[in-house]
Amino acid sequence: MSSLPNTATTASYEADPASVRRVLLLYSGGLDTSVMLKWIQDSYGAEVVCLTVNLGQPGEDYAVIEGKALRLGALECHVVDAREQFAAEYVAPAIRANALYGGGYPLFTALGRPLIAKLAVDYARSTGCDTIAHGCTGKGNDQVRIEATIATLAPELKVIAPVRSWQMGREEEIEYAREHGIPIKGGAETAPYSIDDNLWGRSSEGRWIEDLDHAPEDDVFQLVTRPEEAPDEPETVTVEFERGVPVALNGKRLELVALIEAVAAIGARHGVGIVDHIEDRIVGLKVRDIYEVPAAAILLPAHHELERLVCTIHQNQFKAQLDQQWAYLVYAGLWWEPLRGDLDAYMDHVNELVTGTIAVKLYKGHARVVTRSSPNAVYDAGLASFAQSGGLFSQAAAPGFIELWSLQSRMAWRLHHDPARERD
Ligand code: ARG
Repeated sequence: MSSLPNTATTASYEADPASVRRVLLLYSGGLDTSVMLKWIQDSYGAEVVCLTVNLGQPGEDYAVIEGKALRLGALECHVVDAREQFAAEYVAPAIRANALYGGGYPLFTALGRPLIAKLAVDYARSTGCDTIAHGCTGKGNDQVRIEATIATLAPELKVIAPVRSWQMGREEEIEYAREHGIPIKGGAETAPYSIDDNLWGRSSEGRWIEDLDHAPEDDVFQLVTRPEEAPDEPETVTVEFERGVPVALNGKRLELVALIEAVAAIGARHGVGIVDHIEDRIVGLKVRDIYEVPAAAILLPAHHELERLVCTIHQNQFKAQLDQQWAYLVYAGLWWEPLRGDLDAYMDHVNELVTGTIAVKLYKGHARVVTRSSPNAVYDAGLASFAQSGGLFSQAAAPGFIELWSLQSRMAWRLHHDPARERD
């Protein structure tokens, strides 16, 4: 059963239950946040304003979510379409930073949370709320991202995280929902996967996914076609970039949201973007996620390819380190950390030259770059060819280069392998 709000607080931004008057609830319409909506009114005697953010998660009916919130007693329910802002201010920088965490996770959730939390701050302020409530558990990264954002941007606002403190399991939540007339989406019979999605990807956690030796069951894939069922004919897509951002698909200029959606649809059809990922969470846990990231699985490699072409070997080696640092900061919930801005300044500068076109061939789960072109490529077919010499490159200079280039390695080798120096 529901327990009363815990009065002991650990962090400065946690709400004292006695002073919670009006709560901005980040509302998805699902079981947790619907139970929260009632529970906050009952347990705190507080008013609740709901905020639902559209980041391009497919299949949502926002009118239904809004109606449900109002029926469950919300004072107001605001539905915000933040797709354009998400694409321009969060996904585009991630593309410029080739952002992958742990070698495979394109960070869609980690990119969405700081924006959702920022919007929560904006709406809490404009609707006179003193507290923000979210539905994260105490075991994940999302609580870190959301609370770090709120505590950074709005020190005057407090936070409550009922799911973290109320100690209701799923059964008890369902019981609570029944008692309070809260409809349960999708029925109460089988525990669903824990899903989070937006236009940059979709994650599934829970159930058999927690068994590391359990291969993915077919029903987890709701976005990407299983590769074995993908078309027998390959398809090649061309993506044009300007300054590191995709601007056209197959020769047609599109706004970033529409472009990402269109790439995702084509990739999904060809089974592209399934990632079965073991991940080190910020809170210490090691977990497994199943990701479906068809757009990222095409656009990130395409961007990276173009960037490698227009940059020198030194830029390419250096930027890879910064890319990794960028992904880690964002994963770890520190979107507002000044270092991220510093890194972005570097990313933007490098990406000034990342203009050109990349073609990616899609076939049964694979996406492979097949052609590239850029006016800024540090590439000269004549120089690269075996057939010719001259121009900027002198083959005659090569032996001199090799002698000096290998000098220290040769000296060290001699030192360590000299039989005269070997002990008996
Ligand atoms: N593991 C990913 C991350 O930490 C995805 C989390 C999905 N969140 C969720 N509440 N289901 O960013």
